[in-house]
Amino acid sequence: MKAAPPFCLFQGLLLVSTVMLGIMMGVLLTGQTQIRVYSRERRATSAPELTYNSAQPMNQQSELTYKPTESIEKTPPKPPDLKYNPGCVPRTKLAFIKTHKTGGTTFMQILHRIAYLKDLSIIMGKSTNHGSINEFYHHGIKKEKLIPPKEKYYDILAYHTKYNREVTDKALGPNAMYITLLREPLGQLRSQFNFYWMAKSFKITGENPLSQFLKDPAKYDHRSPGYMATRNPMSSDLGFGKKDLIALTDQAMKSKEEVYFPKPPPMIESFIKNISSQMDLAMIMEYFDESLVLLKRMMCWDLQDILYFKSLSFNYKAKEEEISEDLVKMHRRWDVVDYFLYDHFNRSFWNRVSKEEGNFWDEVKHFKEQNRRMQTYCLGENIEKTDEQSSLVVEETAWNSRFLITPEFCTVVKYGQFCFMTLLRDRAFQRIKNKGKPAKPIDPLKTKMKSLYEKPLCEICDIVSRDCTFNEYLTHLYHDKIISRAKTSFHPSGMGGRGKIADHV
Ligand SMILES: *[C@@H]1O[C@H](CO)[C@@H](O)[C@H](O)[C@H]1NC(C)=O
Ligand SMILES: *[C@@H]1O[C@H](CO)[C@@H](O)[C@H](O)[C@H]1NC(C)=O
Repeated sequence: MKAAPPFCLFQGLLLVSTVMLGIMMGVLLTGQTQIRVYSRERRATSAPELTYNSAQPMNQQSELTYKPTESIEKTPPKPPDLKYNPGCVPRTKLAFIKTHKTGGTTFMQILHRIAYLKDLSIIMGKSTNHGSINEFYHHGIKKEKLIPPKEKYYDILAYHTKYNREVTDKALGPNAMYITLLREPLGQLRSQFNFYWMAKSFKITGENPLSQFLKDPAKYDHRSPGYMATRNPMSSDLGFGKKDLIALTDQAMKSKEEVYFPKPPPMIESFIKNISSQMDLAMIMEYFDESLVLLKRMMCWDLQDILYFKSLSFNYKAKEEEISEDLVKMHRRWDVVDYFLYDHFNRSFWNRVSKEEGNFWDEVKHFKEQNRRMQTYCLGENIEKTDEQSSLVVEETAWNSRFLITPEFCTVVKYGQFCFMTLLRDRAFQRIKNKGKPAKPIDPLKTKMKSLYEKPLCEICDIVSRDCTFNEYLTHLYHDKIISRAKTSFHPSGMGGRGKIADHV
């Protein structure tokens, strides 16, 4: 073999180190696209020891911060030779059938934001206590327990329910789009196993608790099908009856066949057919960005509507635990309906993607890029400034018109789930108090108010002060035109107080 000439060797080295630098930069970038700050306070929820991601409080972001560089922003999308789907009319009526542990909270946050920025009515409980995203799961949607909608019908269902078409149709009126989000069943189980502390509640010790569980799931899990149970939780959320789920699981567990049910038994088949005919889109968690682009097209939404940060995304042991093929087969039996459900919708998802026009994959790539730019910008230091020049520009392409990502948008896109829900509820309570008229602007300095957490600035003030950071709350007051921009502050060092007027206004 000939020795490489020194020049080539040098070039090769240069290439290798450039590539490595690129990879390191990539790690740096992707590593910081998720918000992993835990909230200051826990909320009572049905899940034991629940921890959750909150909005990124402005005063805790220092370690996540770095200055966005020009180079990441400059991958120009294709010139707008074709406007995708011109003249389509945006839809707002949407029922999201939220299944458990499938990425639904991340998506719910998108719906929160759309409802917030477009002032739409979400189906929410009217108790002035703190709200709960599980309240309709346990008790169903009961009209008398809801904050009434702005118009005749609600616009959005975003919280957990057991799918009940009739009730949801009544609440949303005609023409609502129905969507759900599914996840590969073993991944769903891993997440459930971690989130609900199942190793502990099943009293499984040892190195590989998930494998231990899968050797004999019936021995450990006697829960009736539902979100906390491991038997077909997604199908259960989508309305499959408990008794039938148990019967089908029993039948599958007793089966001697190597791969159980190459074709689903009639009861499962008709359930899937039924759901399939009723869902306008089943998103797939493993292809979340692709799902969002499909949704954007279906709803005729803007690119800005589907930008997001991940919520409740954790690293945990059960995510990595290696599961043998035999145990996966066991899981296929135990979770038989969910496997057929997922297989069906994964197939129809790809079938649909294959029929999309308008350079679907280019749009997905463009969306990923813009979402990364938004995340970088919104975690960066630029958002201290309030002038428009510091906003991030997203140029026009075939799939979007030109728009700005402003500092206020950044605060809103990072609102924690509880803060978001609370602000939406507070706004709805204000609307009812003001009999539908917008709140009057107020200059707190000219009142006898001691704190910004007082009526008439808010209605459920103690809950707002618990769930939102001060900056989040200020941005909200500004957004709802209750206080003027000059009185809000986006500077990290100004945040985190309890809203003493003298300090902040
Ligand atoms: C199909 O779904 C509807 C609405 O959820 C339900 O009322 C009906 O019983 C289902 N039919 C079958 C065959 O599962
Ligand atoms: C989902 O469908 C895609 C495309 O056909 C396939 O590559 C993938 O393996 C499927 N996922 C699962 C978990 O079956």
